[in-house]
Amino acid sequence: MKFDILTLFPDLVDRILGESIIGRARTAGVIEVRTHQIRDFAGNKHNNVDDTPYGGGNGMVMAAPPIDRCFRAVLADLPENETRRVVYLSPKGKIFDQATAKRLAGYDRLILLCGHYEGVDQRAIDRFADEEISIGDYVLTGGELPACILVDAVSRLIDGVLASPECHEDESIASGLLEYPQYTRPPVWEGDEVPPILLSGDHAKIDAWRLERSLELTKERRPDLYDAYVAAHPPKPKKAKRARKTPADGGDED
Ligand SMILES: C[S@@+](CC[C@H](N)C(=O)[O-])C[C@H]1O[C@@H](n2cnc3c(N)ncnc32)[C@H](O)[C@@H]1O
Repeated sequence: MKFDILTLFPDLVDRILGESIIGRARTAGVIEVRTHQIRDFAGNKHNNVDDTPYGGGNGMVMAAPPIDRCFRAVLADLPENETRRVVYLSPKGKIFDQATAKRLAGYDRLILLCGHYEGVDQRAIDRFADEEISIGDYVLTGGELPACILVDAVSRLIDGVLASPECHEDESIASGLLEYPQYTRPPVWEGDEVPPILLSGDHAKIDAWRLERSLELTKERRPDLYDAYVAAHPPKPKKAKRARKTPADGGDED
C-alpha cells in the first residue's frame, strides 16, 4: 500500500507516521508514505499558496493552482496499472469508520489532500478528489492529523503491518462489538484482581466470558452496534429432541 500526502506541513506528517508500528512498517517497506510540500509548487517569488476568499469572510483559502501543480507532479510518475483513490480530508466529508478503512485498504495507492486555514478552493477539490472524508464532527486547523489517522487505520489492515492478521479482526468495531476488557501482569495490583477466569487456562470459558463482556459493554455504550450485531447473529434454533422409541416400535424402555 502506498500513500501520497499533499500538505503544507510534511514534517508534521512524517514525524507522526515515522514512529511505532507505522514507522516500522515504512522502514520495512510494507507500506510507503511520501509527503509532498504544496508550497514547492507555489509558482511565485513569495511562495504564497493562499489568498482571501471571494465574497468576503474570515481567513485564507488555499489556492487551486499550487495544488494543481503538486497533483500533476505526483500523478506524473505513478505506474499506470495500479488502483488509486484521491481523498480530500474535510469536515464536510463522509465520517470515517472501520468499513471505510477496509474499503480504502483495497486500493494500491491513496493520495490524500490536506487542507489548512479556511480550506481549499472548491475547484481543486472538484478536479482531483474522488471523495471527501471527515474524521469526526469537529473542526481541526488542518488535514494533517486526519490524514495520519486515515493512514494509520488503513495500514493496520495491510498484511505484514501487524504481527498477525487476528490482531485487528477481534478488536473493537472491527468485530462488530466493543472489545472485552484486557488485563496483564501482575495478577493482583493494589488489591484489584484480574478476573479469575482469565487465569484458568480454560480457553472455551475465557472466550465465552469475553463475548459476554463485549456484549454487555456494547449494549451499554453503543446500542446501535449492539442492535446490528444481534440482528446479524440471531440465536441458533434449539435442536428438537428426538422422540424416544418405545418397546412397541423396537426401542428400549428405562
Ligand atoms: C479549519 S478547517 C476548514 C474548515 C472549513 N472552513 C469548513 O467550515 O468546512 C482546515 C482544514 O482542516 C481539515 N479538517 C478540519 N477538520 C477536519 C475533520 N473533522 N476531518 C477531516 N479534515 C478536517 C480540512 O483539510 C480543512 O480543509
